Amino acid sequence: MRWLYPLFLLSSLAMAQFPGGPPPSRGPWSNPKLPPEERARLLVQAMTLDEKIQMVHGVGWFFGADMSLTGEAPPPIVYRSNGGGGFIPGIPRLGVPDLQMNDAMVGSGGGARMGRYSTAMPSALALASSWDLDLAREYAALIGKELRDQGYNITLGGGLNLTREPRNGRNFEYLGEDPLLAGRMAAAYVQGKQSQGIVGILKHYALNNQESGRYFANVRMPRKGARESELLAFEIAVKEGQPGSVMCSYNLYEGDYACENAYLLNDVLKKEWNWPGFVMSDWGATHSTVKAALNGLDMEMPGNTFFDGALKAAVEKGEVPMARLDGMVRRILWALFRAGVFDRRPQRQAPDIFRGFEVAQKAAEAGIVLLKNDRAVLPLDPQMKGTIAVIGGHADKGVLSGGGSAQVDPAGGNAVPPAPPKPGSSLLDIIFGTPVYHRSQPLRAIQALASSAKVVFHDGKDIAGAASLAKSAQAAIVFAAQHTSEGKDLADLSLPDRQDDLIAAVAAANPRTVVVLETGTAVKMPWLARVAAVVEAWYPGIRGGEAIANVLFGRVNPSGKLAMTFPKSEDDLPQPRLVAQPPARGPQDMGPMFPGGPAKMRVNTRQFDVEYPEGARAGYKWFQSMKREPLFPFGFGLSYTTFAYSGLRVDAAKREVAFTLRNTGQRAGAEVAQVYVQLPASAGEQFRRLAGWQKVTLKPGESRTVAVALHPLALAVFDEKAGRWETPRGTFRIFAGGCSADTPLRGEMAIQ
Ligand code: BGC
Repeated sequence: MRWLYPLFLLSSLAMAQFPGGPPPSRGPWSNPKLPPEERARLLVQAMTLDEKIQMVHGVGWFFGADMSLTGEAPPPIVYRSNGGGGFIPGIPRLGVPDLQMNDAMVGSGGGARMGRYSTAMPSALALASSWDLDLAREYAALIGKELRDQGYNITLGGGLNLTREPRNGRNFEYLGEDPLLAGRMAAAYVQGKQSQGIVGILKHYALNNQESGRYFANVRMPRKGARESELLAFEIAVKEGQPGSVMCSYNLYEGDYACENAYLLNDVLKKEWNWPGFVMSDWGATHSTVKAALNGLDMEMPGNTFFDGALKAAVEKGEVPMARLDGMVRRILWALFRAGVFDRRPQRQAPDIFRGFEVAQKAAEAGIVLLKNDRAVLPLDPQMKGTIAVIGGHADKGVLSGGGSAQVDPAGGNAVPPAPPKPGSSLLDIIFGTPVYHRSQPLRAIQALASSAKVVFHDGKDIAGAASLAKSAQAAIVFAAQHTSEGKDLADLSLPDRQDDLIAAVAAANPRTVVVLETGTAVKMPWLARVAAVVEAWYPGIRGGEAIANVLFGRVNPSGKLAMTFPKSEDDLPQPRLVAQPPARGPQDMGPMFPGGPAKMRVNTRQFDVEYPEGARAGYKWFQSMKREPLFPFGFGLSYTTFAYSGLRVDAAKREVAFTLRNTGQRAGAEVAQVYVQLPASAGEQFRRLAGWQKVTLKPGESRTVAVALHPLALAVFDEKAGRWETPRGTFRIFAGGCSADTPLRGEMAIQ
């Protein structure tokens, strides 16, 4: 709910920084040589009941607010908050530091009101499109470092809900539709954050795949489908990434809220995956005291409706055993000890802006996907003479970003000042609906690279005018943007505001029309056949303009591959079944808005069941099994060079495949070589699964042997009755190539 904070801009003035780090701790737990679990155990033993309770809940929605707004004296604790998305006061007596949390999926959020600069990284979907695990680590480490420089010790950024529904407004802050790709990228991402002494998180666990009705959606999906799709992504990410925390989601799964769902939290996450960290609720996603505590929730955020006095009373009455409360606190402390939060005094400093630029640009360049390039219109010749028409998308001002809690404040303010809100708009409409542009101008970057040409900009509002400029130009580059945000889904996948008409008109006027997309998810392209080239640049971050220009003019050879399917039409997508339930639960208590303010935010909406018919077949698996042609398939992306695959060898004992990859073109380039498997017939699957990949950089003419290990869970099915993974016996078909729909190498692997 960070988007409400601008209301409290004044608060920053009242906020004093907590000077220095935590006071020295005074017990055996302060010995950094002891393992984190031992330190956590010792510290819990030293805590009073009140101190334990203090650790398991936040202090309110607007703990950073200036209480003069409510006419009340502020509680002193408010002034120790760092102004981030969440705050839990520490316990000086025991040396427990304040827990300072902030949203940070694509950069540390909400800093401008605190006078802080954060690097706006390209969207997480752009990162996923790089398929580069080292880059994911570097991207996240940069954000982790900035969080630490700003005084935070827990990140709230680590989203990996699978892209089942391309219209989901939050796809830009997630890692695509495939459980292996999303899971492994998320693991690398969490490791990167945690390498900087920050408690890492994965969210939103689980099946929070749409924003519409997110507080009330009861997802119904057989366990097999859930385990083989989104829960598989979490399983890989939790086991490989070992996050300190997992955030449970708003929605329900099979009748229970995710934050009090014994199956999700206790049975799977904690017992089956043997994960020692703590479960934190999404903001306002706690709905009970005893049920939530017993079923696995360890921390209520951001307020204290259920896990403060109510939890204390429940412990005193024996409804929640003291051992369970101890376990909650121990998990939190384990994560803090392991991240080094107790041992390192915060060193506030201004982030290294230039390092940020470097990593942001590198990630943007690696994530850009070249979708079409007829007659090799790209790369454009930097020596070209004549006119280049740059049209639309505010390319003269900046690049678009995604909204909601993953919004990074634009340095220097929004490059495209928003239009005044429509009459009758709610505050949430305004906050979710306001596109924010970062000040990295594609126009300027293009001008810098095309120094012999005359680069002319047209804002695209007058379509005929834009087309006539394009007609007289050597090449036309149309920028098209689609804003998406937390809190709302897209009605459809069309580009808004007549941009399709603009592109069609420009393409009709100039055969060398290049479309650059800045989108948070897939879009439809009714003009595709008429344009020469399409570059998907996603939300490219604070150096997005430079990254785009480098790709357009060939300084960077694009190597990104789609992490999600682009459908031709919404009709080809799975159609979820929605069943409204009677408003049985009445108004939902969302916790106190802010101290002294309206006591409760009450929302009264019907619960509804949502059945996702695709189950395990999210994304390309649905398209394959339904034999539907997408616009662009998962894993697709062109390069300015070409690659050839040959010589597939399968090593069944090692569960590994190897082949030769050769750069057959004239330029150096990187290829994401992908391996898919089709399980033996007994699995009954009409689709292939991504089982592994390697990103390989090759010089022109160079060839290399590429070995790809097949992930064991990509070869297994979840046996719902037995409650475990089983690898079917029989013949696995193997496919290798540069895209899910183009796999020149085929082989077999027998598992007996
Ligand atoms: C979002 C979370 C976010 C939290 C804190 C919630 O509404 O769903 O992703 O971390 O707010 O801002």
